[in-house]
Amino acid sequence: MQKKIIITGGAGFIGSHVVRRFVKNYPNYLIVNLDKLTYAGNLANLRDIENEPNYEFVKGDIVDADFVNELFAAEQPDAVIHLAAESHVDRSITNPIDFVMTNVVGTVVLLNAARNTWKGRYDQTRFYHVSTDEVYGTLGEDGMFTETTGYDPHSPYSASKASSDHFVRAYHDTYGMDAVVSNCSNNYGSFHFPEKLIPLAINNIKQNKPVPVYGKGENIRDWLWVEDHARAIDVIFHKAKAGTTYNIGGHNEWKNIDLIRLLCHIMDKKLGRREGESEKLITFVTDRAGHDLRYAIDASKLKAELGWVPSITFEEGLERTVDWYLANQVWLNDVTSGHYQQYYNEQYANR
Ligand code: NAD
Ligand code: DAU
Repeated sequence: MQKKIIITGGAGFIGSHVVRRFVKNYPNYLIVNLDKLTYAGNLANLRDIENEPNYEFVKGDIVDADFVNELFAAEQPDAVIHLAAESHVDRSITNPIDFVMTNVVGTVVLLNAARNTWKGRYDQTRFYHVSTDEVYGTLGEDGMFTETTGYDPHSPYSASKASSDHFVRAYHDTYGMDAVVSNCSNNYGSFHFPEKLIPLAINNIKQNKPVPVYGKGENIRDWLWVEDHARAIDVIFHKAKAGTTYNIGGHNEWKNIDLIRLLCHIMDKKLGRREGESEKLITFVTDRAGHDLRYAIDASKLKAELGWVPSITFEEGLERTVDWYLANQVWLNDVTSGHYQQYYNEQYANR
């Protein structure tokens, strides 16, 4: 094998797309998927590649320093692509400590294990940290986040991701580790856990259940198809200079309420419902605390320097996503059984 890469969080939504892409496109790389399999991690996301000779799965917690140090010593990876995280803003409001542990402590544990293993060979190794645009805070009606926008996180989730970004850069600046960071906007697509807006709405519309829209639905997000994010990670991993940061985004801003209406329209068509039928399910509920108004990414640096642009339109991606959820009812049933019901009731009962 030419390279051994530990990908953390590979059983999650974005991680599974990154693992799949690397396993398929780079037969000379050994991909080691390190994942704790929390509620968000699901090996069913990787069924199609789990028997490939260049893929291995290791179950483990990135917060556990002894375990991580032993794994690095045994595996001697050449690179880390770090996606493991607690990723849902609403859960961070209920339980911030989990986010500090995994997102901050877990990231530093990985950095330290990499530092111990890679001392003296930073020129042949790379730590790639996958982060979010939420670290920049919120925009008003104008402007976009660039790589030089100051950090101004508002939720416990974004504060924990901001902290982890700072640690990654500190390891580059202090120890000379080859580290890169990317900050991406909202992803959507297959294998997205239905606690997040798009898959939750698809699931509820399908079941004729209320579709909860926070506040007045006027918050704006910039949506990117997850496979385009995975491709951006591939390009940045291979081409970025050490110590650089890239913003990744879809140039695709949608008000939540307009997005949900578009989704209802697509679902009416796919489910053979009368036009306007699914829109009746839209229910305005109490707003999220500290809810950022608008995110918008300026990804021009990534385009100019590494040639990356999104490959499909939002309408096309959303239609593909709806088709995937309708064709994968077993996956959806599996992830929404058990604990999901309890989470849903606690999160939405009193809104
Ligand atoms: P996800 O919640 O779907 O998956 C997270 C994965 O991490 C799961 O497989 C989970 O089991 C694993 N994990 C959690 N805690 C762990 C621990 N302590 N040890 C080992 N594994 C653990 O998340 P996602 O939406 O795929 O996001 C992946 C990464 O991308 C995160 O770092 C997130 O901050 C970032 N990101 C997400 C988005 C988005 O729109 N979803 C956008 C930009 C950046
Ligand atoms: O911007 C990147 C971030 O996007 C990632 O870093 C996060 O990991 C990811 O979860 C996502 O965060 P958001 O908070 O933007 O995503 P979410 O799907 O939770 O919410 C999208 C918008 O929809 C947001 O304005 C809140 C709103 N919303 C969400 C849910 C779950 C609703 O109106 N109703 C809902 O039920």
